[in-house]
Amino acid sequence: MADFKSLIAAGRLIVEDCLPSTNSRLKELAMEGAAEGTVLIARRQTGGRGRMERQFVSPEGGLYYSMLLTPTSSPEQSLSLTPCAAVAVHRAIEALCGVSADIKWPNDLMLQGKKICGILCESVFFASQQKLIVGIGINVSTAPEAFGQELADTAASLLSVLGHAPTVDEMAAELTAQLDTVYALWQRDHRAFLKEYRRHCINLGKSVSLIKNGLSRSATALDIDSDYALVVEYPDGEREHIHTGEVSLR
Ligand code: BTN
Repeated sequence: MADFKSLIAAGRLIVEDCLPSTNSRLKELAMEGAAEGTVLIARRQTGGRGRMERQFVSPEGGLYYSMLLTPTSSPEQSLSLTPCAAVAVHRAIEALCGVSADIKWPNDLMLQGKKICGILCESVFFASQQKLIVGIGINVSTAPEAFGQELADTAASLLSVLGHAPTVDEMAAELTAQLDTVYALWQRDHRAFLKEYRRHCINLGKSVSLIKNGLSRSATALDIDSDYALVVEYPDGEREHIHTGEVSLR
């Protein structure tokens, strides 16, 4: 298994006790010249951010993780790194916990219908170079009451669902190893993870509610296309390819 201590010793991993957001801080470090592959972890976050400008509740017991990457792909192609990061998280959870988590399109991981991980990839351009921050929050051993009343029915941790969990540091090390593997292959072929993504995606064949600009529309999720967009069919037979960031799914 990948080793947490040697990642720190190699200067690749930075661990902070508390940050507003590891993504925000790693963006600053990227501007200051941090190397590709730098990983920043916080034991808790006070302003953890999720997709669609939502808050990501980040109490102790979770892994709050950001990795800096500098891909040479086009910004459009870089969008596919987010679902591929979900595959890396899936592999890390399977390797450490022996369970196959569900991927809820585009990039949440679920166990027994509860969210245990969210992913937020953000890009910054610096000196005309694209830098990507892959931000991942995994509820490893978070106590259920720490999520607060609002998330009581929707969020859970590996420990609360499975009754066992790795340490946060073991998860950080395994995740780093899996992301390294996924990123290396993604650079050569960003479609290499489609099959695996489809296999674990829980939405396919099911009814979904798409929330776009505050309006909700029902559809059936049919497939994941070659750009990892969700192919949906509306009751009137119209089909649409939904790209990450366009909608929220219920
Ligand atoms: C989501 O659920 O919509 C995505 C959540 C992403 C949370 C992670 S935690 C580490 C990194 N720092 C942040 O502020 N957000 C991401």
